[in-house]
Amino acid sequence: MVQKVRKAVFPAAGMGTRFLPATKANPKEMLTVVDKPLIQHVVDEARAGGIEHFIFVTGRNKGVIEDHFDRQIELEKTLKERGRQAELDMLTASLPGPGQTSFTRQQEPLGLGHAVWCARDLVGDEPFALLLPDVLVQGNGTGCLAQLQEEYERTGGNVVAVEEVPDDATHHYGIVDIERGAGASHPIRGMVEKPAPGTAPSNLILMGRYLLQPEIFGILEDQQSGAGGEIQITDAMISLLASQKFTAVEYEGKSFDCGSKIGFLTANIAFALEREELREALLEEIGKLT
Ligand code: G1P
Repeated sequence: MVQKVRKAVFPAAGMGTRFLPATKANPKEMLTVVDKPLIQHVVDEARAGGIEHFIFVTGRNKGVIEDHFDRQIELEKTLKERGRQAELDMLTASLPGPGQTSFTRQQEPLGLGHAVWCARDLVGDEPFALLLPDVLVQGNGTGCLAQLQEEYERTGGNVVAVEEVPDDATHHYGIVDIERGAGASHPIRGMVEKPAPGTAPSNLILMGRYLLQPEIFGILEDQQSGAGGEIQITDAMISLLASQKFTAVEYEGKSFDCGSKIGFLTANIAFALEREELREALLEEIGKLT
């Protein structure tokens, strides 16, 4: 039996320069898609995927993320006095319980791999999930992480979510080289972080959801900087591939890269259209704009 994945790491230390001035005093992870901050959408996906402990790697000016995942007793009291039970239930349903969150800081922007390494003591010697809060996934009931967990329970090792992008977009991402078989899960034989245009081994990207074994931390400890001069998680995974199995899952659903303005705006529309109380009115308003 494989060891259960109970903990998830959320790297949330980036400065969000692509969203200035919105992100000057407000962390990019707190930008809202419809009525929930990005980071809460991703925490909800993790919980639906069986995660019990949520580890945030933040940085300076990100204290509000910690507040967001705490109780707000005054607000709860006021809502209760006013009989706003639906709002109260919604707030409590999505809140991690006491002792289910941990926060640490990256201190310096040295790359995604370095941010993950900062969580090593909080994760300890057990497999863990890694979810990039810039990426939102829509579709398929329980979500992307739950699909990775299903695969992990079957195969163990390391499991990552992948999806296809157009050939001219591969240089923005980590790319996997797979042995394609029947079905949606494939053994990985190679990976590369942000290959030069025209050199990618496939157009399957690492889309931002991973289940990793703790041996990755020992590799990250000595990891040299790679693409963009940053310590890359993909490079550490390439090293780990020499001794451990990696499986790519073409998950069911659609992702939105909310690190880009177009991805973020599209996610807002797509997630609002899923909401019965907003759908018709929104379509009508969009119709008037075009
Ligand atoms: C990171 C990872 C990359 C992955 C991407 C998904 O890149 O390094 O492998 O494909 O997230 O969004 P970043 O977007 O931080 O440049």
